[in-house]
Amino acid sequence: MSGIFITLEGGDGAGKTTQAELLASWLGERGLEVVQTREPGGTMLGASLRELLLHGEHVDDRAEALLYAADRAQHVSKVVRPALERGAAVVQDRYIDSSLAYQGAGRPLDLTEVRRISEWATGGLWPHLTVLLDVTPELAQKRREATGERADRLESEAAEFHRAVREGFLRLAEADPDRFLVLDASLPRDELHAAIIGQVAPLLAS
Ligand code: TMP
Repeated sequence: MSGIFITLEGGDGAGKTTQAELLASWLGERGLEVVQTREPGGTMLGASLRELLLHGEHVDDRAEALLYAADRAQHVSKVVRPALERGAAVVQDRYIDSSLAYQGAGRPLDLTEVRRISEWATGGLWPHLTVLLDVTPELAQKRREATGERADRLESEAAEFHRAVREGFLRLAEADPDRFLVLDASLPRDELHAAIIGQVAPLLAS
């Protein structure tokens, strides 16, 4: 597989989407084919799963882990692998680490089992680089409120859940420093973009 696979992770309201867009433009300006995508919801099946996961009734913890993994299996098979095989740069909002943090740390599930489900779903495809935009639950909530949008099922979880998710992300990054770039999401947009490019540029050269 000859492309590059970059994922952005972090709590809700971390600013991932803005940074994904800036990075995708930067890569495009360098002549690469860029596929900007997200989970859940990067395929037609995924769009339905996203609706069920975020705007449906209460979802059992195990069902939740399996639905995110099902979205991921479809997405990797239909979008991500084909793009990487064409040599494209895939810039993706959320991936396996979101399942490890939200389901593996936020929910009372076994982290190893959650990891195994996603590894099975993806055939063990891991990103070359994962940017973790670390955000405090307080700042995330402030940003969410500023948008005026109604919180979805996950966003409506208690502060304690969001704290566990944040700590989960930080532990993942600590355990895998070669893959993760951890940035403080409260930094100005352009500063974050520059730091991300600083890490991506060497990947293009290699
Ligand atoms: P988004 O709003 O950033 O697109 O993400 C949708 C929500 O789904 C967000 O609250 C994080 C959550 N999520 C999980 O709980 N597990 C996962 O594996 C993924 C991809 C997202």
